[in-house]
Amino acid sequence: MTFTDLPKVELHLHHEGAAPPGFIRQLAHEKRVDLSGIFRPDGSYDFRDFAHFLSVYETACTVLQGPEDFRRLTLAILEESAAHGVVYSETFLSPDFCGGGDLAAWRDYLAAIQDASAEAEAKHGITLRGVVTCVRHFGPELAKKAALCAAETAGDWIVGFGMGGNETVGQQGDYAWSFDCAREAGLRLTTHAGEFGGPESVRDAVRVLGVERVGHGVRSMEDADLIRELADCGTVLEVCPGSNVVLGLFPDFASHPIAKLRDAGLRVTVSTDDPPFFHTTMSREYEMLNRAFGWDATDFAQLNDTALAAAFCDDTTRARVQKRLESKEHE
Ligand code: HPA
Ligand code: ZN
Repeated sequence: MTFTDLPKVELHLHHEGAAPPGFIRQLAHEKRVDLSGIFRPDGSYDFRDFAHFLSVYETACTVLQGPEDFRRLTLAILEESAAHGVVYSETFLSPDFCGGGDLAAWRDYLAAIQDASAEAEAKHGITLRGVVTCVRHFGPELAKKAALCAAETAGDWIVGFGMGGNETVGQQGDYAWSFDCAREAGLRLTTHAGEFGGPESVRDAVRVLGVERVGHGVRSMEDADLIRELADCGTVLEVCPGSNVVLGLFPDFASHPIAKLRDAGLRVTVSTDDPPFFHTTMSREYEMLNRAFGWDATDFAQLNDTALAAAFCDDTTRARVQKRLESKEHE
């Protein structure tokens, strides 16, 4: 079986975090910015731990300075994802990195990204939708600006709202205003929880913020009552095993709880998070899951069904992607 050819649905991808290091180096060169401190001698991103990862990430973002840079980035990301069989992807976009929370600027960035998304769909048969994310360690006030940008641009392309960033800062509930604002605008909700926060962060995500999907959520495994609650609610976990291994949550794929979470009745999906940072691709995630747990084309088809059912796009888009999935699964 070649894992590259299998069709895939990805729900958890940070847009800037999907920027290949060579792409960021090229922009740095064009803009005469010295970013040498964030790369290893082999050209990959250099970071020690999660906090340092976030800092390197934000430094890389300093060369993404306008809509045109995001148009190029979007084309590069979608070409790479499509090459790994991805037929539908949801990407996390932060107004903080796209105009600093200013609505008019955000609209310009978004127009360029959507333009690139349409171009890539025509060229590579991959559909992209956007989930606006606030950045937790930037605090609740900037999160409100992100939520207002999300609410103003909610529609058939911006389909959700969420929160990334440093999960050890503050509480999920500190951001409730932003999640309420996004919900009232018709957006679907997800938040990072249960990655660096414990099971209580997942419980807060579901009970306090009312999200239907959780980014990571893998530390739910530590709490049997929570597992039952998530199974009863049908909460979907956006699991990113390769990311978790690189950031040191688990020593290797074989120790990762994704198989146990699935066996416990949870709705699990698989994503890459920030693929070049974590030296991964969707094909590699599938390959490693096959090696660790023996998952095969049937398991991957089931993962895709779960992911597509949990995708925040409208049902017309879902049906279109479903057809694409089925035709590729039977190729
Ligand atoms: N986790 C949390 N926040 C992030 C990430 C991530 O992998 N990438 C960008 N922001
Ligand atoms: Zn993430």
